[in-house]
Amino acid sequence: MKYIAYCTKGTEPIVRAEILGKLKTVQIFEEEDKRIIFEYSGTAKMLLDLKCPDDIGILLDRFAFSDLKVFSERVLGLDLKPVLQKIYSIRQDIEARFSVTIGGVTSIDLNDLKKEIVNTLTNVTGFNYSETDHGNFDVRIFVDKNDIYLSVRLVKLPLYKREYKKYEKAGSLKPSIAACMVYAATQGKKNLRIVDNFCGSGTILCEALLMGNEVFGGDIDPQGVSYTRKNLQNLKFLTIGRSLFDWKSQSSQPKAGPPLAGKLKVEVKQIDAVKTNWPDNFFDCAVSNLPYGKQVRVSNITTLYRDALKEYVRIVKRGGVICLLGSRSEILRKYAKKYLWNPKIEEYKLGFLGQEPWLIMVENFSR
Ligand SMILES: C[S@@+](CC[C@H](N)C(=O)[O-])C[C@H]1O[C@@H](n2cnc3c(N)ncnc32)[C@H](O)[C@@H]1O
Repeated sequence: MKYIAYCTKGTEPIVRAEILGKLKTVQIFEEEDKRIIFEYSGTAKMLLDLKCPDDIGILLDRFAFSDLKVFSERVLGLDLKPVLQKIYSIRQDIEARFSVTIGGVTSIDLNDLKKEIVNTLTNVTGFNYSETDHGNFDVRIFVDKNDIYLSVRLVKLPLYKREYKKYEKAGSLKPSIAACMVYAATQGKKNLRIVDNFCGSGTILCEALLMGNEVFGGDIDPQGVSYTRKNLQNLKFLTIGRSLFDWKSQSSQPKAGPPLAGKLKVEVKQIDAVKTNWPDNFFDCAVSNLPYGKQVRVSNITTLYRDALKEYVRIVKRGGVICLLGSRSEILRKYAKKYLWNPKIEEYKLGFLGQEPWLIMVENFSR
């Protein structure tokens, strides 16, 4: 069966690596802006273990648009039975109701496409159309210029929505982007020590923990520390004992509950990222979404990026990886060259919410 992984612009190589790394018997057919098409013969449940795509759909059809009549004929020709069977294998609560999600960059009138598919699918399937509830059988029309991709979402909510994320500060990262950063830094390895000294609401630390790593970090803002702890607690990792967590400023004990993994260490505290008391050469990876743009203002971005990078060079092991998302890649590149010997730098330009930040990965071989 063919699937389409929808991705945040610029993360496609990381999503591809995760698909190839986690799924067996998989073949990639297309890797273009914001999407990867692959064939996979394993169970649909395995796909839900992917953390880096924004969403996964079963690909129904892919074709170049010519006119509405041809579009309607393609919709009429869809074989939905195997698709329903596949979805039923992971969700037995599916009802005779469908919704449509449509988007893309194109000159084609998307409203016309939507009307056409709603009418055709209503007639062909006998399913009721739901305008607002996208949690049952959601048909997605993704349009890139003239190319149309039709798919159906596997699960009720898009994959990037995470149950743990109940507390959110301004500037919080989309979980799938945080997962891409962790996956790129760790290359999918587990049991590493990951630090995020700009943890905000803790999305990166939650994703790193979900991927089986020990997590450490903090934020200068006490609200960030509190939100991060609460979001981490929602993962129910923090139930094995006090030693797993820095509870110094916590007034109440965590509730008991089953841990998702073994004894993974977690420590979150209030810190200034430019001067922490983490030990030298302690972490395998630093993964951070630095302040940028309007949502998180700082007085001097150059000195903050410079000094935070210098601190990461001190606390990350030699050969470890520093993975940073920020707006001013030139500052990070300049100081990576200053603090590190012949640094290997990888860069990805992302695109989301009208912004184009850089994801920069540096291997830590200090001078
Ligand atoms: C872009 S946000 C991080 C968002 C986070 N990745 C998330 O998903 O919620 C940047 C964070 O850096 C914090 N920050 C700014 N300056 C800092 C500093 N000197 N030390 C530590 N944290 C700082 C801000 O309080 C903010 O929470």
